[in-house]
Amino acid sequence: MRAMARDDVDAVLAIEQAAQRFPWTRGNFSDALASNYVCCVDEEGGEIRGYAVMMPAADEAELLNIGVAVAQQRKGLGRAMLGEMLENARGRNMRRVFLEVRPSNAAAIALYRSAGFKEIGVRRGYYRNAGGSEDALMMACELVGGENG
Ligand SMILES: CC(C)(COP(=O)(O)OP(=O)(O)OC[C@H]1O[C@@H](n2cnc3c(N)ncnc32)[C@H](O)[C@@H]1OP(=O)(O)O)[C@@H](O)C(=O)NCCC(=O)NCCS
Repeated sequence: MRAMARDDVDAVLAIEQAAQRFPWTRGNFSDALASNYVCCVDEEGGEIRGYAVMMPAADEAELLNIGVAVAQQRKGLGRAMLGEMLENARGRNMRRVFLEVRPSNAAAIALYRSAGFKEIGVRRGYYRNAGGSEDALMMACELVGGENG
């Protein structure tokens, strides 16, 4: 993976809009870049295949977004990118990485569990949808203590 540049946002947004049911906007990605969050893309042969965004804060980081182009899904790319984000957090001496995910997103939850994330709670009505709201499952991966190292 390499750092995401402003010029990558069009390609990232196209993947986001095709892959996510509730996609981030261009503004969300621009804000993440402007805030110096850890924003990375996976590029092969000039084509962006995936991206991840993580917000470091004190001694923990929040994984805010991860996405893989629909045609590239289920080939191990999501797991590889998540592994790189965890390595990045470890390199910054973070104690843990946490995230929120829709309970309906079975693919993402399976990916996070396989990478060592554990469920730590539920935020009721966290996501707003057209049809009302949806809870958020909170998950965390501990980076100290050896279990996921
Ligand atoms: C979630 C996502 C990033 C996974 O990326 P991916 O490259 O397809 O995943 P991988 O090939 O690395 O799969 C890793 C593991 O995740 C799980 N997984 C991935 N896709 C899955 C699916 N469709 N159904 C069930 N489990 C799935 C499996 O446990 C898989 O391991 P396995 O292939 O050994 O069984 C991808 O599906 C995606 O971009 N989804 C839309 C965006 C999104 O929901 N992002 C997360 C919330 S922000």
